[in-house]
Amino acid sequence: MNTFFQPTPAAPLLFFGGPYSNLEALLALLERAAEFGIPDRNLLCTGDLVAYCADPQAVVDVFRARNLAVVQGNCEESLGTGSDDCGCGFDPGSACDVLSAQWYRYASANLDLHSRAWMRGLPAQIAFSWGGRRWLAVHGTSRQQNRFLFASANKAQLAAELPQDTDIVVAGHCGIPFTRRVRSQLWHNAGVIGMPANDGTRRVWFSVAEERRESIVISTRALSYDAESASRKMQGEGLCAYAEALLSGLWPSTDVLPQAEQTAGGVPLAFDPVHYPEGCGRTGARASNLFNSEVESI
Ligand SMILES: [Fe+2]
Repeated sequence: MNTFFQPTPAAPLLFFGGPYSNLEALLALLERAAEFGIPDRNLLCTGDLVAYCADPQAVVDVFRARNLAVVQGNCEESLGTGSDDCGCGFDPGSACDVLSAQWYRYASANLDLHSRAWMRGLPAQIAFSWGGRRWLAVHGTSRQQNRFLFASANKAQLAAELPQDTDIVVAGHCGIPFTRRVRSQLWHNAGVIGMPANDGTRRVWFSVAEERRESIVISTRALSYDAESASRKMQGEGLCAYAEALLSGLWPSTDVLPQAEQTAGGVPLAFDPVHYPEGCGRTGARASNLFNSEVESI
């Protein structure tokens, strides 16, 4: 049994990824969790605490002070081991590569040794049971921490990353939320809170899983927060490209995105609740977009 995440069955789960050094977004998320009545022990982060924004140390301090569960992201691994880059695996010389060098340098200079040691000790994945289902939380995939798996992945690609002994995988890393059914399993990415989802809005994303009778209902939810303050601090630190992205809702580089996600850029996201297993209590109109689970386009 894992010792990193032991949620109470008496409250929903809350999943989120990529705080990315965005303290304002993290504090707003914790307020929302309190509004929902979700205790800290039921919050699970899929990693990348530290990246583009201005408050790497403060974000880590919040996680440690509140003992929030987190899967080790490539950023934690890289900063924890003193690596030269963020470990995203961007193509050398690409826009993502050049931009990541800037924020990684800033993050490295603004994070203490205790935090780095703590990052090294984070789990690469967390398996747990909740609501009668077997869950696995990972960063990229269970086999590769820095693999980008997007909504446009085909079923074979998703199936290869879904362990047989798991009902629902909760992943992070790619920055845009989506949920896909593959046979009797579910792949769920809650998105990130530290950066908009390249949908042209300032909103960031998280999800809530609730148990209803015999099923699990996962709702992907938007979070609004004080993006102006976060962006202003970044401008002051010279983190300008991503400071603008907090306000425009558009990424400064989309090199990493597959063609389908590039085409969908700038279109506001919308999600319907996902019921697991399939067919339990699904009602109402479905939002139609690449990232919505009920769209089986590929
Ligand atoms: Fe990542």
